[in-house]
Amino acid sequence: MYYADEVIEEVRLRNDIVDVISQYVKLQRKGNSYFGLCPFHNEKSPSFSVNRDKQMYYCFGCGAGGNLFTFLMEYENYSFPEAVQHLAQRGGVELPVMEESGEARARKNHMNSLMEIQKITAGYYYYQLKHEGGVRAREYLSGRGLSWETIHQFGLGYSGRAGNNLYRYLKNKGYADELLKDSGLFQADEKNGMYDKFWNRVIFPIADVQNRVIGFGGRVMGDGKPKYLNSPETKIFDKSRNLYGLNRARSSRKKNLIICEGYMDVIAMHQAGFTNAVASLGTALTAGHASLLRRYTQEVLMIYDSDQAGIKAALRGIPILRAAGLHARVADLSPYKDPDEFIKAQGAEEFQKRLDQAQNSFLFQIRMLEREFDLGDPQGKTDFYRAVAERLLEFTQDLERNNYIEAIAQQYHIEKEQLHKMVNTLALAGVQVQRPRQPVSAGSDRRTQPKEGAREKAQKLMLTWLVNHPGIFGQVRTYLKPEDFTTPLYQRVAQMLYEQQETEGRFTPARIWNQFQDPQEQKSAASLLNTSLPVDSAREQEKAFADTLLRILEDSLLKQRESLEPGDMKGLQENINREMELKKMKANREQLHISFE
Ligand code: CTP
Ligand code: MN
Repeated sequence: MYYADEVIEEVRLRNDIVDVISQYVKLQRKGNSYFGLCPFHNEKSPSFSVNRDKQMYYCFGCGAGGNLFTFLMEYENYSFPEAVQHLAQRGGVELPVMEESGEARARKNHMNSLMEIQKITAGYYYYQLKHEGGVRAREYLSGRGLSWETIHQFGLGYSGRAGNNLYRYLKNKGYADELLKDSGLFQADEKNGMYDKFWNRVIFPIADVQNRVIGFGGRVMGDGKPKYLNSPETKIFDKSRNLYGLNRARSSRKKNLIICEGYMDVIAMHQAGFTNAVASLGTALTAGHASLLRRYTQEVLMIYDSDQAGIKAALRGIPILRAAGLHARVADLSPYKDPDEFIKAQGAEEFQKRLDQAQNSFLFQIRMLEREFDLGDPQGKTDFYRAVAERLLEFTQDLERNNYIEAIAQQYHIEKEQLHKMVNTLALAGVQVQRPRQPVSAGSDRRTQPKEGAREKAQKLMLTWLVNHPGIFGQVRTYLKPEDFTTPLYQRVAQMLYEQQETEGRFTPARIWNQFQDPQEQKSAASLLNTSLPVDSAREQEKAFADTLLRILEDSLLKQRESLEPGDMKGLQENINREMELKKMKANREQLHISFE
């Protein structure tokens, strides 16, 4: 369901952000902004700011930011249309009624039928477990320490021995083959026709957060292969957007969620009282999982196997969680393999201790990074410190970065000021030149998660400066066109900002968020207009401005040159002309002086 841009903008204008947020957060006026304790992370002194002119909020502590809609989406877990509806009512705006197309209705019916089939199937497997044929499966589950109450809570089942019992059962209920094919519960070949996918396995129904069964996992009872079989992805089963156990964990009322790898681990943890445990569904952690987790918690405890593969999985997952605005800690269960085994061997109390000791994910990353360097060697040591400083640069909030600098300095016995200086130097250098990448060793996550490049950083900074110091727009415009912002998201934002200035003579950054209905994009856009550099003096800031401007232009010209059609002489000439201009600008850098006041 989508509302027209004008409707969304009308709704936004009819509600004042300070008034709305005041209903949730106690705000105090300080200059142009209002400050309060951030509702999105735990803090003792206010770093959450709301700005009436910009109609935006931003937390300098955790980086949460956006406009009215994003606030309600984050705070109330509303979807975008729900946030629009809520604010429309509050502001007395009448929303147009949306008509559903025939196609949409048919799709909905199909999905409902698929849901129905999964539900009936879960009941069927559960029944099989309870009756005569299920005796071995019952023994298997109780042999693994599960109580009948736990089995019941998780709706575990048994798939029976015959090859197509479930198929016949559902056929008898009148479901068509087409639909049954789409359910993911059956396989088909020419000789046998359709037959059941799960055969003689204990069954773990997988539910979505609304408690609807959407798929199944099945385990062999013993050592057969494959150990687990899972439903394939279907129209209702998206593995990258669902987590096993979240339907129960979401209401556990604990301060964090635990993420691990296995069905049995989740169940064993819940049985031992850790009702906040969830697992990914036999897949690596995705951004979809992270934003799902973020709806219910601010902190995630990661538990991966203690071996090399587990460490790798944790290192892969950390940046994904962080990008979603989650705090993550990593628990270590060694020498035990997984939570199920740990709890069996050591009990709930010891398990709780390991959770309490879980290490902050950044410090975990640094500890793993340390293994790649020889700290006994002066060069190795220098390289390590430099790598640490580089990682520290990833924190765009001064407060957060400083806290980490302090923690790391203490732990690795580096002088705090020294580390600070190193970070500052790198920050400024980062805007000028792309550093050559260091060789990547196994276990590092750099390959899969490229660090935000200097190019992106420069564009982000420039857009932030524009919004915070609209006075510089006139000058910036003479050097940069919106197209010079080469990253697609930033280019869209630049286009909107330029257009606002040109048609209305001012920026309305809050309106920009209306365009981004995907929470992930909103996050990027929010941090985009709140980028800062750890620079200390006005002189450094002015130097940074020139560097940033030149960097953006250089990247833009390079990109333009690369995308020229062969034989486009006019384009080439224009590109060369701009190159010459750029050269002149570089030579007369001091003329790029700009005042931020
Ligand atoms: N998995 C899977 N397919 C496999 C093996 C594993 O989908 N062939 C997924 C399952 O979701 C499983 C998780 O990966 O729960 C972790 O696998 P593993 O550590 O091998 O199993 P455990 O969860 O420890 O299961 P168990 O304790 O029953 O051996
Ligand atoms: Mn296990």
